[in-house]
Formats: sequence, structure tokens, C-alpha cells
Amino acid sequence: MGRRRAAFLCAVVLLSCAVRVSQAAEDGYLVGIGKADITGPVADVNLMGYANPGQFAGGIHIRLFARTFIVADAADPAGRVAFVNLDAGMASQAVTFTVLERLRERYGELYGEQNVALSGTHTHAGPAGYLQYMVYDIASRGFYPQTFNAIVDGVVLSIQRAHDSLAPGSLSVGAGELLDANINRSPTAYLANPAEERALYQHDVDKQLTLLRLDGPDGSAIGAFSWFPVHGTSMNNTNTLVSGDNKGAAAQFVERWARAGGGQRRGRSQAAGSTDSTGGGGTNSSGGTGSGGGGGGDSGTLGSRAGSGAGVSPSLVAAFCQANVGDTSPNTLGAFCLDTGLPCDAVHSTCNGRVQQCIGRGPGWPDHFESTRLVGQRQADKALELLLSDLETIRGPIQYRHAFLDMRGIQVQASDFTQAGRTCKPAMGFAFAAGTTDGPGAFDFTQGDTNGTAFWRLVRNFIQKPTPEQEACHAPKPILLDVGEMHYPYEWVPYIVEIQILRIGQLVVLSVPGEFTTMAGRRLKRAVQAAVRGAWGEGLHLVIAGLSNTYASYITTPEEYAVQRYEGGFTLFGPHTLDAYIQEFVRLAGAMVRDEPTDPGPAPPNQLAAQWSLVPPVVWDGPPAGKRFGDMAEDVPRDSYRAGETVAATFHAGCPRNNIRAEGTFLAVERQAGDGSWQVVATDDDWATKFRWGRRHELSELSFATVEWTVPEGAPAGAYRLRHCGDAKPLFSSIVHSYEGVSRTFYVEGPPGSSSSGSGGNKQGSSEGGGVWAEVRQGLAALGRRAGAGSTWLLRSLHEQGRRGG
Ligand SMILES: *[C@@H]1O[C@H](CO)[C@@H](O)[C@H](O)[C@H]1NC(C)=O
Ligand SMILES: *[C@@H]1O[C@H](CO)[C@@H](O)[C@H](O)[C@H]1NC(C)=O
Ligand SMILES: *[C@@H]1O[C@H](CO)[C@@H](O)[C@H](O)[C@H]1NC(C)=O
Repeated sequence: MGRRRAAFLCAVVLLSCAVRVSQAAEDGYLVGIGKADITGPVADVNLMGYANPGQFAGGIHIRLFARTFIVADAADPAGRVAFVNLDAGMASQAVTFTVLERLRERYGELYGEQNVALSGTHTHAGPAGYLQYMVYDIASRGFYPQTFNAIVDGVVLSIQRAHDSLAPGSLSVGAGELLDANINRSPTAYLANPAEERALYQHDVDKQLTLLRLDGPDGSAIGAFSWFPVHGTSMNNTNTLVSGDNKGAAAQFVERWARAGGGQRRGRSQAAGSTDSTGGGGTNSSGGTGSGGGGGGDSGTLGSRAGSGAGVSPSLVAAFCQANVGDTSPNTLGAFCLDTGLPCDAVHSTCNGRVQQCIGRGPGWPDHFESTRLVGQRQADKALELLLSDLETIRGPIQYRHAFLDMRGIQVQASDFTQAGRTCKPAMGFAFAAGTTDGPGAFDFTQGDTNGTAFWRLVRNFIQKPTPEQEACHAPKPILLDVGEMHYPYEWVPYIVEIQILRIGQLVVLSVPGEFTTMAGRRLKRAVQAAVRGAWGEGLHLVIAGLSNTYASYITTPEEYAVQRYEGGFTLFGPHTLDAYIQEFVRLAGAMVRDEPTDPGPAPPNQLAAQWSLVPPVVWDGPPAGKRFGDMAEDVPRDSYRAGETVAATFHAGCPRNNIRAEGTFLAVERQAGDGSWQVVATDDDWATKFRWGRRHELSELSFATVEWTVPEGAPAGAYRLRHCGDAKPLFSSIVHSYEGVSRTFYVEGPPGSSSSGSGGNKQGSSEGGGVWAEVRQGLAALGRRAGAGSTWLLRSLHEQGRRGG
């Protein structure tokens, strides 16, 4: 349909269709890198991804960031692209256009929808409520402005930082195979693809990690952006801590390695190996500031490896970007039944006919932190291996193209890569409600369902009975939610989506608005490659940037669609969804090659003003009588700890939503220096720490914050203490006030046999946290018996944590 209107529109709006082809490489590139915090609210907000209505944030595992690179043509700096990788479930159309508005105010026409890409890592452990369509905000009790604003502010700041740091630099690219970090979670659907197409590939998921290295003026790497498909579901659907999941972990490991000087030492020493369970092996714990993380390299085991003379800046920004993620899983051991321990039924992913017991196992099973670390470490190691190897220098022009597509009726022509047909108004199938082996659904839905059940058809008809045309258009998908015909209170899913091609020399980034399955992504890449090969040459590196700019769920091949696994059930625009994307991408690519203008497409609706929210505000915080915020509820129970042990302290706290502390921290681990001063060695962004927060019950003003630190291997012996920093809200005022609390001092002992342990100090007998905390605990236990399990589970986990710390 874009084609129909293209000629007319482009005659009218030639300016906005203008194509920029720069002859870069002669004069080289300008390169800029930026990174900013987008963590947002870490309390009371649903976590985005599993749509588990009971999964609320209650603290921080590691912080979330936006990481940006900008590459401009040195000879014609207006010719530029900005790519932003977000530690978020996905990009959001509302975020994208708000960010672009802010950029327009600041930089005029320099940045727009054509040359800026926002791509989500697909972590399932980030705060929800920042998308403007109903379906994606139901589990989060609607839209939540604090989440939205934190992401918009952080993205804009990271772009600003990249913009301000633009300087002459160079680029290189390479790819390597990473075998043990992903599997296919719908292999039976993959098998429905034609045998001759499958024969082109060795695996049923893509194993290639492609890395873009960005060097600054002195030739050292300042950015490392890699693309690899794996779901951000290492942290499971019971997790309550905000986390970047495996890609956030990988980014932290590589960045900490660089910060610890790993990239500046000479000589190839050790290869990457396994780390200890605290993730702190060989770390450098001497550095650290209160903001953005302290305490040195959590990926110390990456070792010091210097490549072919090419250094790495200590302030390296490493981003791990998502690709054709649709049918991938990080749960590499496969899916098993919780009750029997046997593999699940392969076609439906069920145990005894139901999905709830069928759960994927990560490599660190049953510990999901360990699985996150391992899948993160494997991506980190591969990226670092590439970063330090001889890469191909990037040369050639910077080009970009973007189009909005109205997906409700694109007529697709048959081609080598597409089947003829038409896309439909959006609808979701029964299999969608089954969920996946990474996080099953709640009811009696199963994957691989092309029938639906009578009961749910009845419920469905009560909500919105699909028209016969919709049924026919989506067949063989049985429609559960006919979202294309539901417009109240506003649109339920997007129907105007966007596609984009960014070309930097031989690197071609295809920004897709959702989760392409493995074969869907491969087919798209082959089609685009065929369209540009003659003009752009053979040695191209094509990557798919998943979940970019707008989110419109899944995209399977038509063959996979017919099987109706979860991914097929959540393919919104019918069996020809992929065919339409391929046709439109090829249209853009062809126009880029021929240097012709293209139809920008229809503008999507802005529904921000209409958003509803049922997330309750913070009414007030109050400590118990006789206590102040920051006072200890349960102090550090022991006097001394060794590497690998976990120390914890619990404080009377305010709600973290009072102040999200962007680029700051809710905790500090402090070590006493020789001169008696205290120095921060870890913050809430460290792998070794966890910040946990919970209320006594959902409506209570009483809340608690636990600071937890697992002593890393190699932590210097000495005196330490735990600090909590927070903000509290009075009852009749909106002005929050900051407070801090500090635990008693404890000692970290050196390794056995070392004499430097526990210098001085009064080492009295260990207190087991009696007194006040025992009373609180009794009170809570009584309360827990009365209240529903849901309202006190957070506190129970705090208690358990407190005990484990001892
Ligand atoms: C540890 O980190 C500090 C501060 O970042 C740095 O000065 C020092 O050289 C590092 N030590 C090692 C062994 O990497
Ligand atoms: C989720 O992870 C936690 C922590 O590792 C573990 O205790 C729990 O059993 C896991 N749940 C499922 C359903 O796998
Ligand atoms: C679906 O319906 C067909 C025919 O109506 C039937 O043969 C088939 O067994 C059904 N499949 C399931 C999974 O219920």
C-alpha cells in the first residue's frame, strides 16, 4: 500500500523523503558514545515481559542503562545515525516519539525517525508501564509515568552525551560463533519451514554474534556494540529485582573489565574462564564512586588480553543488542516438568496436558542469578574475543531509510522470499495465552493450538466476537483477542509500525518492530541482501536490531504460523505478517540503492494523553514509633565474613519511588582506608550487591530495605560497613526528604592463613538480631497469617534474606 501512494506523496513531500548519501570513508567518521541510567522505579511496579500480574519490583539486582553510539560522516556531519540500546523489555512507540520531540527541540533536524534507532534488549526484569497500547500495560495496572519518564530522560541524556563526545574515529566489524548461549524454544514450529531452507543452516537458532567496534581519536576502543539473539528470560517470573538480565550482565562484565584496566595491559595472558559464584573472582575492589557503580571489575576473570596492539579505553561502553529473538531461549538445558523432572511434551510444551509445570532450565539451574551470570558471561567473552581480534575496517557511506507501515491490509506479491497474500487487522490467538517455557500462562491454554476451546470461545465472544472476515484472514489461528476490532478505551496494539535500514559502510542494521523468529529473521536478511548485493557488494554484515522503535509482538514465517506455537499465536497481522515486512524492507532497500525517495507512510496515533493508570501513589512513609528512617531493623549479625559469604543488614526505609536516584545508588558498601576515612567499594549496580525493598503490607506506611553484599574473592581484608540511602514522604506533603543509615562495622578476613585479617576492632560475640527485629518479625508473622499471601511475600523474602546473611 505504501507503493500505491508513494509517487504522489513523494512529489508533495520531497523534502521529508530526501535521501542522504554521504561519501564517507574518504574523510572518515566522527564517532560519539554515551551511556545513561534508565532504571526508573524499583518498587510497586510490575516487571515488563512475563505479564505476571503478581510480579512486582522490590529492589535492584543491577541497574538499567541506555547505551548510544552516533556515527557521522566527517565530510558531511549532518549525515549521521544514532543507535540506542535500551536495557528494557522493548522499545516503545510513545518513548520513541517523545525522545525525538526532545531531540528536535535541542538539535533541530539533525536527529529524526529516519536516523535514530531505539532497540530494547528484551530484559524481562525492567519496570513496566511505558508502552501506549492496552495489551502491553494490562499486567502493569496501566501506564506508569515514572517508568516512562525515566526511560525518556535516560535515552535523551545518553544521546546528548554521545553527541557531545563526537570526535574523529574509526569503525571495524566482525562476527564469531557462540554455541552455548541460546536454544530454540519452539523447535517443532521451526521444523515446519521448508527442508531446503533449513538445509542452509546448521542450527535452529542463529549462533552468530556480530560486533561493531568503535575507536576514538587515539585508536582505542570506546564502544563495543554486539548483536546476538537470546531472550532476556534468564531471570524467571518470580524475580522481584530490577535487572538487565543476561545482556545487562554481559555489558557490565565487559565494561568493568575495561574499567579495571583489562584492555590496557599488554600481552595475551589468560583466556576467559569461569568465575566463582559471587561473580567477583579476581576483581579490582579498590576503585569506585557513589555514582554508577564502584568496586571494580566483576568480570575479572575475563583476564587481561590485549589484542593486536589495539587498546581498549577504561571508559568503554559495551552494549549487547537484541536480534531475531522470537523463538530463542537462554534456558539452554531445555524444558522439564517441575513435578516429575522429565522433559515436557515437545509439541505443546505441557506436562499432563497443562503448561504451568513445564519450565525451561538455564545453565545455572535452579539458581536464576547463576543462569543470568553464565549466559551473560558467554556473550561477554565472545564479544571481548572479537573486540581484541583483527576486525574488518568499515569503509563506505552512511545511509538510512525509514517508513511507517499500516499493517491492516498490505497486499503482498509473491517473490523468492514472499508468498502472495494480504495482512489482517491485528488479533491474538489462543496459543498466545499459553505463554512459553520461559514463563507459562495462567489458564488451560496450550501452545500449538489451532482449535481453541469452547469455554474460552464463549468468553472471547463476550469481550469481542471476531467477524467472519477476521477469522478467515487469520486462519489457521483461532482468535482469542480480536484486538484489531477493540478500540476502547484506546487502541490495544499498534497497527502502524515502523521499519528502518541503517547502513554504515558494510554494516547494515535492519530495525524491526518486534520479535522475529530465527527463520523469519534469516529470510528477511536474505531478501534484503539480494536487493542490495549488486550495489553494496558481497561482504556485507547484516544484523537485525530486534524490538526497535515500536513494539508489535512476534513475527513468524507463514509455515511456523500454521503450527500456532506461542510465537505464531502472538503474530498480530495474520499469516502474511512476515511477507509484508520483507516486501516493505526490500522496497526501502531498493530505493536506497537507486537513490530514490520513498513514502514516509502514515503517522501513528499519539495516545499518551488518554493513558489510564491504577498504580497507587506513595501515600506516606512512616517508621515505627521511636525509630527514624535509616535506623537499623536488623543489623549485620556477625563480626566477620570471608569471600563467598553474604552479609546483610535491614533498615527502616521509605519507598524507592519517592526518588528514583537516577545515576545514584540506594546502597553503598564501604571500606575503611588506612587514614580512617570510608571509601565506597560497591553500589546497587554491582553484581555482588542486592538491594531489596518491601512494605509490611500493600497499604502500610512501614517498609524495610535490605542491603546485601556477597564478599567477592580477593576483597581486601579490613573493616567494612553497609549504608542505605533513601527518601521518605510525609503524610500531608509532597516534599520528600533524604535519609541515610549505616550498619555496624564488620570485618572481611583475608584468605585462610593470611595474617592481615580483621585488624583490631572489638570482636564481641555474634548477635543474632534479637530485640526489635524479633518483635517486628513476630508481628509480621501474625499479620501474614491474616493477610493474603500476596501482600507479605516480599517481607518474607526479606526475613529469609536476613537469616541467610547470618
Ligand atoms: C584497580 O582500580 C584502580 C582504580 O580504578 C586503578 O587505579 C588500579 O590500577 C586498578 N588495579 C588493577 C590491578 O587493575
Ligand atoms: C526461579 O528462580 C528462583 C531463584 O533462583 C528459584 O528459586 C525458583 O525455583 C525459580 N522458579 C521457577 C519456576 O523456575
Ligand atoms: C481440532 O479439531 C479437529 C477437527 O475439528 C480435531 O480433529 C483435532 O483433534 C482437534 N485438535 C485438538 C488439539 O483438539
